Amino acid sequence: MTSGQTPALAVPNLRGAVYLDILRLLHRALNPRRYLEIGTRRGDSLVLAECPTISIDPKLEITSDVIGAKSQCHFYQMPSDRFFEDFDPKAILGGPLDMAFLDGMHLCEFLLRDFANTEKACKRNAVVVLHDCVPVEAAIAKRTFTEKTINPVHYNWWTGDVWRTLLLLIRRRPDLRITVLDAQPTGLACITNLDPTSTFIDDNYADLVAEMLSWSLETMGVPALLEALRVTSTSELDSAEKLYRRFWL
Ligand SMILES: C[S@@+](CC[C@H](N)C(=O)[O-])C[C@H]1O[C@@H](n2cnc3c(N)ncnc32)[C@H](O)[C@@H]1O
Repeated sequence: MTSGQTPALAVPNLRGAVYLDILRLLHRALNPRRYLEIGTRRGDSLVLAECPTISIDPKLEITSDVIGAKSQCHFYQMPSDRFFEDFDPKAILGGPLDMAFLDGMHLCEFLLRDFANTEKACKRNAVVVLHDCVPVEAAIAKRTFTEKTINPVHYNWWTGDVWRTLLLLIRRRPDLRITVLDAQPTGLACITNLDPTSTFIDDNYADLVAEMLSWSLETMGVPALLEALRVTSTSELDSAEKLYRRFWL
């Protein structure tokens, strides 16, 4: 971009597999023994897990059988911060987490806390999956929902600004191994090489939140964000064989 040009505030829709199909493949191929989910709503992602599970959501809207083959499914109808204040996932499930899906409050500081709290309960080689971190236009990535989108197809879409959390983890936690996928509609990030003993986020929380909030998607532009996130095609991870090259439990 040369000076004077306005950065592009939208990109074409993501072309990868639908996020639920990637999550299903992760469950089937990796066969996690303990799973935690933040943000369940109707249970479209929860139903994919077959192992002992914790589901956290202040407003569950489940109307179908989401328990399926799970031998245990623990529901906590409360905000995730309260859950982590009062409960220990490892004690509930009898050991560390193998996999987690973070899809709760879509504000960057909430996701940062959800990630830090979840990481403490994980095995090093667990996979923590973040949802909605690849906004395809700036309007859907504001901190408050707006109905005014560039592409009318995005009417009612809201990723919030959790892209900031993913960018922060890429920049400030180079020890993590992060794969960002162009899963439809708004991306998935799969994070491994976790450090359950890390206190980096807790110790630097206020500075990290200030840093994230200093970034502007309107200034940066959506194409530059996608480049910084190193978004890759879901075709890189669309089979068990390809997943095994990156993840193991
Ligand atoms: C996008 S929906 C989850 C969708 C589900 N994971 C799926 O794939 O079908 C987001 C959910 O996060 C929940 N949520 C909002 N604030 C939360 C918080 N502080 N802690 C946990 N969940 C929260 C909402 O109640 C909502 O049900």
